[in-house]
Amino acid sequence: MDFAQDLKAQVDIVRVISDYVPRLRRFGNRYSGLCPFHNEKTPSFSIYAEHQFYRCYGCDAKGDVFNFVMTIEGLTFWEALKKLADQHGIPLPKQSQAADDKTRLRAALYEMHELATDHFHANLGSANGAPVRAYLKERNVTQAAAQQFQLGLSDRTGRTLLRLFEQRGFNADQMVQSGLIGRGEDGSLYDRFRNRLMFPIHNESGKTIAFGGRALDPEEKAKYLNSPETEIYKKSNVLYNLNRAKQAAAQQDRIVLVEGYMDVIGATQAGVTEVVASCGTALTLEQIRAMKRHSQNVHLNFDPDAAGNRASEKYIALILDENIHLRMVELEEGLDPDEFCKKHGADLYRTRVSGAKDYFYWLADRARARFNIREPQGRIEVFQFLLPAIQGLNDKIKRASVASDLAAYLGVDSGDVLEQFRKMAADRVERTIAPRADPAKATDRILLPLLVGENEHRRELIEGLRTISALRQGPAAPVYEALIAMHDAGENITFNTLHERLSPSEQNRLASIVLDAATTSTALEDGLACVAALRKDEREAARRELKIRIKQAEREGRIQDALRMMQELGEFV
Ligand code: UTP
Ligand code: MN
Repeated sequence: MDFAQDLKAQVDIVRVISDYVPRLRRFGNRYSGLCPFHNEKTPSFSIYAEHQFYRCYGCDAKGDVFNFVMTIEGLTFWEALKKLADQHGIPLPKQSQAADDKTRLRAALYEMHELATDHFHANLGSANGAPVRAYLKERNVTQAAAQQFQLGLSDRTGRTLLRLFEQRGFNADQMVQSGLIGRGEDGSLYDRFRNRLMFPIHNESGKTIAFGGRALDPEEKAKYLNSPETEIYKKSNVLYNLNRAKQAAAQQDRIVLVEGYMDVIGATQAGVTEVVASCGTALTLEQIRAMKRHSQNVHLNFDPDAAGNRASEKYIALILDENIHLRMVELEEGLDPDEFCKKHGADLYRTRVSGAKDYFYWLADRARARFNIREPQGRIEVFQFLLPAIQGLNDKIKRASVASDLAAYLGVDSGDVLEQFRKMAADRVERTIAPRADPAKATDRILLPLLVGENEHRRELIEGLRTISALRQGPAAPVYEALIAMHDAGENITFNTLHERLSPSEQNRLASIVLDAATTSTALEDGLACVAALRKDEREAARRELKIRIKQAEREGRIQDALRMMQELGEFV
């Protein structure tokens, strides 16, 4: 673990995070930007360089550089450690290379997926692959695209990949855990993917983590077979092609979301390279946020069939909720993007993508087709249909403008629409009023930052603090107690080490006190004055208490006690 501490001391958390959070602004020792873990328009995410700690006031994400890399990359502690060490050219100590079991397994799975990608791809290029190459050609997939997407072919025998893995020394457990090898009821192992066109699915850094396989035999029941979830593949987090699309998405400031693997390839060949697919799973919040990290403009281009339309309807609110500017790509003749490109060519597809209209026009069309807008009942139904999606607009001005656009488009009174919006807005406010956290005391704001800062400061202050009962009775009592205990045990005290000691609610208290104060550095003099004032208060409180007890003793005729206490009182002066 010492290596982790050493590494942490050598790594600059601000530099690491700046790779993920663009446009960080500096305020003294604090850096601020848009939180990468939740959706927001104004920055509530801060990095405190002095404490090597980050925190978001919006979603409560917080931690040190390891927590950040683990969370954002979905890594184990060891993987985050290794990644940071590699990035900084710091060699890992020998024993840590053995790492933990989970990391070893994951490393094996990555390796198997790389082997499988190469193996399937080579197989497609071999004599075996001739019919499949013809199939691709017939579907307008160029050789260059097959190369770019690392398309492959899994053969019919159902043992080839298994043999390859065995040769490379992987054990049965690792193979089964990879999702690429299945185990029959009799315990025998076999390749999960047989006679399929293979689409490697990559994570954002471009490592193969899963496969989608399209049936080549028209008799085959499952048209697509996808890898199961594994230690390296969490379906809900992955978008197909994001690794390749992200650069273009940033350049074009838009990202096109389609349904299938072939759609991605078709769009890419048509020059729309900022395209990703949700891999046949229901679109998740994680996937939406992954898109948004690369662009706030999403063009939705699902299949225009009934299922695709239903999916689009369902996802609109989810996407809008993330403050994404959503447009709908509309393709005629019920063609999916791949079929459309094949039939009408790249130019027309690009025109359709560029001409995509705001989502609400699309929704209004759907509403009009479904309900009778001339009837009062129909109009109510239209609103009920439209409102959930428009709830995603929490910008007042935008909402008003959408309301009037929608009203005009539907040919209804815009007052009606606005009235509905107002009702909705009132509901929203009620839902979002949250209880306020109790405010930290002024003394805590002065003392705690000094106490977790320089060792010198802490030494100067801590003895004076020990006996102050007000601190030990106040809301931050557990923080002071932990601090004093660590100090007495001679432990290294930093914001991080103290933070690790505390319960989650105490961690929050510490973070809100210390990190808020981080921009305005407190002088030791202020701390000393604060301790002096606390001690004075304490003495006065004790005097008051003593006076009361003297009076009581006098009333009860306990003269000796009263005299003794009067003496004590004298000593206080
Ligand atoms: P489609 O059925 O629309 O297929 O499924 P497609 O992409 O147009 O494929 P082609 O053109 O017939 O070859 C869209 C996506 O849904 C997922 C796949 O990711 C597919 O690309 N899917 C579909 C599955 O995961 N399983 C299935 O059985 C079907
Ligand atoms: Mn298709």
